[in-house]
Amino acid sequence: MEQSSKTIRILGIESSCDETAAAVVADGRHILSSVVASQIDIHRKYGGVVPELASREHLREIVPVVREAMEQAGLGFQDLDAVGVTCGPGLVGSLLVGITYGKTLAHALNRPLIPVNHLEGHVCAAFLEAHQQGSEPQLPAVCLIVSGGHTVLYQVAESAADSPNAFAYRRLGQTRDDAAGEAYDKVAKLLGFGYPGGPILDQLAAKAVSASAKPPVKFGPTKTRGNPLDFSFSGIKTAVLYHVREHPEYQEEIRRREEAVAAGHRSLADLLPLCSEQTLGLVREFQRAVVRDLLERTSAAVDECGVNTVLISGGVAANSELRARLLERAAERGWRIYFPSRALSTDNAAMIAAAAHLGFLRHRFADMSLNAKATLPLG
Ligand code: KG4
Ligand code: ZN
Repeated sequence: MEQSSKTIRILGIESSCDETAAAVVADGRHILSSVVASQIDIHRKYGGVVPELASREHLREIVPVVREAMEQAGLGFQDLDAVGVTCGPGLVGSLLVGITYGKTLAHALNRPLIPVNHLEGHVCAAFLEAHQQGSEPQLPAVCLIVSGGHTVLYQVAESAADSPNAFAYRRLGQTRDDAAGEAYDKVAKLLGFGYPGGPILDQLAAKAVSASAKPPVKFGPTKTRGNPLDFSFSGIKTAVLYHVREHPEYQEEIRRREEAVAAGHRSLADLLPLCSEQTLGLVREFQRAVVRDLLERTSAAVDECGVNTVLISGGVAANSELRARLLERAAERGWRIYFPSRALSTDNAAMIAAAAHLGFLRHRFADMSLNAKATLPLG
């Protein structure tokens, strides 16, 4: 192809939720820079993302974040070949900040603007990391995207050469209610651990294993009527809520943790001493239940599709128990499994630039009418 002789440098822009991110990626695989401004500190006191605050912060951050990405890449705007921007799914007000910036920049530079589906970005994150390690995931593959906003299983295959899409997707299952990360965040909030909940519950669950804390309650596997590959996490979350309500002995330690978190003491070292064995056991049982459902559905999807490549992406892909269980399963079943590093699992713009590169090769360009889409399925 004509373009392959020249390096293609794409600026990716991501603003779909609570991270303002920009990155420059060369040829869809070499990350020249990746800058992420997280808004966690702003949303923390509300226990979740507040859409109005998120768009305001994106407005504040977009210019400095892009500038830093360009500086880190050592490039001027004229060195860019295209601008890729997330156009959905996500918070419309947040998406519009990135889209408006991307449109303006692409127009001013007279470069193509490439619309990117955020979920395709997560798929590309798994490829990006593999490329950096010199390996190439074989398609078709099963991809689990598991984050605070999404829990979805896809079959990913090569797409036809004339398709505007990089890959052909078949959605195999998705959550019917909460995303897995959302369940982590809600359970953490109700137990007084603050936001976001995933990292601290993950660390505490590991402590519960070493302290061999007994689970005060057991959660059975979740069954979903209809599609067995669909997920449902709100039942586990509600079971934790009822368990805590029925056991008043939790209240005092929850209150102490809430105070500690409000005072900025959020680390494992701060919070572990404020957890009873019973709480550690509860956290471990919650994590075990979530991980079991993710693992079993992913396994069933792999069987259904008859593939042996598995891609895992999204913030919850950083979960240590999920990684350990999936790696065990991969070793047992002979799967090749690809997890991006933590920086590429969570929302970032390098994955958007990588997805945009595939769009660039297929001339999937947007005009100035590009709009934000709150929901935007893949495939
Ligand atoms: O991909 P991401 O940065 O943003 C979304 O698109 O949502 O994912 C953030 C989510 C949050 O819900 C957070 O609690 C969860 O990922 N998370 C984790 C872990 N690290 C982050 N969940 C479980 N275990 C972790 N280690
Ligand atoms: Zn995401």
